[in-house]
Amino acid sequence: MSPKPAKESLHSVFCAQDIALDTAYQGIDSKSWKSLFRQARESHLEQFIEDLFAGKAVNTSENRPALHSALRNLDKKPVFVNGQDVMPEVADVWHRIEGLCNKWVGVTDVIHIGIGGSDFGPRLAIEALAHVPDIDSRGMRMHFLANIDTAELNRILHRAHPNSTRVIIVSKSFTTLETTMNAKAVVKWLKDSGRNDVQITQALFAVTANVAAAQEFGIAKDNIYPFWDWVGGRYSVWSAVGLPIALQYGFDTFKEFLAGAQFMDQHFMSAPLEENLPVIMALALIYQQKKHRIKSYAVIPYADALDWFPKWLQQLDMESNGKSVDKDGMPIKYSCPVVFGSSGSNAQHSYFQLLHQGLDVIPIDFIAIREPMSHLAEAKAHHRILLSNCLAQAQALANGKKTDNPNNTYPGKRPSNLLILPKLNAFYLGALLALYENRTTALGAIWNINSFDQPGVELGKVLAKPIELALKNGVTVQADDSIDATTAARINLFNQS
Ligand code: F6P
Repeated sequence: MSPKPAKESLHSVFCAQDIALDTAYQGIDSKSWKSLFRQARESHLEQFIEDLFAGKAVNTSENRPALHSALRNLDKKPVFVNGQDVMPEVADVWHRIEGLCNKWVGVTDVIHIGIGGSDFGPRLAIEALAHVPDIDSRGMRMHFLANIDTAELNRILHRAHPNSTRVIIVSKSFTTLETTMNAKAVVKWLKDSGRNDVQITQALFAVTANVAAAQEFGIAKDNIYPFWDWVGGRYSVWSAVGLPIALQYGFDTFKEFLAGAQFMDQHFMSAPLEENLPVIMALALIYQQKKHRIKSYAVIPYADALDWFPKWLQQLDMESNGKSVDKDGMPIKYSCPVVFGSSGSNAQHSYFQLLHQGLDVIPIDFIAIREPMSHLAEAKAHHRILLSNCLAQAQALANGKKTDNPNNTYPGKRPSNLLILPKLNAFYLGALLALYENRTTALGAIWNINSFDQPGVELGKVLAKPIELALKNGVTVQADDSIDATTAARINLFNQS
């Protein structure tokens, strides 16, 4: 009937103040926990955490720090990169964001153009916080434009009012094709709608680590909000990439979001490994990987507001740790499993059949929020059902059920975490995201992976160029050095139709 809390396990509930993690259904006994913590120490995890926050070059392939924690270092305690304290620059951007929030009156629509790490974080936060009861959303419509597919562009341009629209182009590199092409299309729309050059310049803003490229694009210097090469794209929502959060919900809400993340950083830095939530979550996954050879795991927030959370997490985890060699280029045995998920209870009516009775063991992170997300008369009753579903699923997965009919037998022994947030607001959202960020980097450290580069995304981008040219020319192509026979035949299918 395991995994139930192992008898000898001391306790299974770990807290970072009022955020609780219950690992009881991981079925890990105290001896195994001890060996997991030993493994963490042997992998020099504690040193890694110190180096990460101290601004050491933990991004070894690019020889850079990964200092997203400085972006939420609200106390402005100095953080040094190449001997220079970065906090004055960070604080200057906070100051400018606050100023912009106060200035943006009469804006009906904001088009936020960005993709990947320049999209998921702010999109998730805007979506999640919209569900917070009584939050003031300042009457603006926030549109997220990521896909190069014009369906999204078309939908947004039909809804936005060009005379009262502001455009934020968000790209760390300012070279991402989807983003620059979408930005050009939106500028054209403004022109076609009768906005003159001065009005267009006033409507355009950029958030980037490549200020020169943004200026080259035509963004006025005062409208450019910088961030730095020591912030990874998927860790960047805490920078001016999170501008929509401040614009939509106010600067104080943005600060609360940063404060929640800072709180979680402090916990990650100071709690002993045995009480450290990100570390415990990382080690539970490592245990299941060895025990069940798991190839995937699911994250199921029982909160509709967090429906974007699994998508954000997919990039964070899989772009960070989806690798097959370690920092030294040596093959590794374990790295990031496939991450998937969506909000419960909807998810129960989709893939939970497989989670209960499929061939593979898939560990789950259940996330539950104590307080309901609305003031409706039905809120309490509905919330009880939401929570009871969450608890029941975890119990069913852990204990299973034996019957004479194999069809109705549940194997059980399916591990899960339960993470409980007291409520969902900007503070706890920030804490949740930082918890997972720290868990991702802790996993990378234990696996000896560089969690801060993404070389695997380059090849496809390079290969797309000659293919795009061939599609543009519209003539029959032959295989060559850059286009193989299968792809040439496929291009020809498109070109001939
Ligand atoms: O997918 C690759 C990637 O570089 C991500 O790491 C990044 O979040 C995304 O593209 C967008 O990059 P940028 O912010 O430079 O436009």
